Amino acid sequence: MEAVTARAHTNIALIKYWGKRNEELILPMNNSISITLDKFYTTTTVQFCSCLNEDMFLLNGNIASKEETEKISRPLNIIRKLVGRNIFAVVDSINDVPTSAGFASSASGFAALAAAATKAIGLDLDSRELSQIARQGSGSACRSIYGGFVEWHKGEKEDGTDSYAEQLLHPNEWKLSILSVLLESKPKKILSREGMKRTVQTSVFYSGWLETIDQDLSIARHAINERDFEKLGTVLEKNALKMHATTLGANPPFMYWQGATIEIMNVIQELRAKGIEAYFTIDAGPNVKVICESKNEEIVYKTLQGLPMVKDIHTCQPGPGISYLANK
Ligand code: DP6
Repeated sequence: MEAVTARAHTNIALIKYWGKRNEELILPMNNSISITLDKFYTTTTVQFCSCLNEDMFLLNGNIASKEETEKISRPLNIIRKLVGRNIFAVVDSINDVPTSAGFASSASGFAALAAAATKAIGLDLDSRELSQIARQGSGSACRSIYGGFVEWHKGEKEDGTDSYAEQLLHPNEWKLSILSVLLESKPKKILSREGMKRTVQTSVFYSGWLETIDQDLSIARHAINERDFEKLGTVLEKNALKMHATTLGANPPFMYWQGATIEIMNVIQELRAKGIEAYFTIDAGPNVKVICESKNEEIVYKTLQGLPMVKDIHTCQPGPGISYLANK
């Protein structure tokens, strides 16, 4: 069978996915909205062969651990089931997501895997169907199937057939700047999967998250539609702070922020006080992503660059959805 290569880019959530209603199928408690980024991506080649009796996973040129291979076998099992064939694959994946960028590679990784593996096994799926397969590798991966601004619909059905992502805006339709600020920090202790699970099960603040999420989503959708940056920035920053507040109400409580995280948050709020519109968001780790309009990119960059706790800054713009590459 032929080898197929696909590429997918990372994404950053503006309105966060935080909590699952079904752990097994990776079905979320709430919709989320993201921007796919142009700078960081995963390129994955998949080839199925009846000569194999298990999946083989090469990650950045090295044979992956058993644990990592099991993770990629999950979406591959779904694909095998779809075609009714028990055939295994070699998956060769290269991450152009430097750890120094402070982005997780799981979103781009599972999106590229879903695209390459379905085509390699002979399926011709549309983006919505691909997003459902990517979702079952890692939730946020379903948004990386598309470029630009993307919404993941949580769906209502038990079987997850109505939980998929779709594009809100093409990358060229609103050219915002996203600065990924890498801080001097210690490695994170609680991964997002574990963190959101503990929050759903124990946080006294989780009900507040759920009660207000539809309003945040609605404001964000309108702001994106109207290209209203102040409106979008205000809601995305509030939404990130709310997500992190839920971790403080968990049992045992936990926190993704470090000292430097709070310092950057203050710097951004001070910039706004001076009339420079920039807003921050933070995922399940200490690093901060700053979002601004292109006209303010330079001043934001320069302000952050001079700070002692800032190790590196990567500036991104909205990027493309999945693409297929010719095999050599
Ligand atoms: C805070 O998609 O990594 O980045 O579905 O368990 O693999 P799993 O979780 P994952 O969680 C992302 C959480 C987040 C918010 C977001 O990206 O929406």
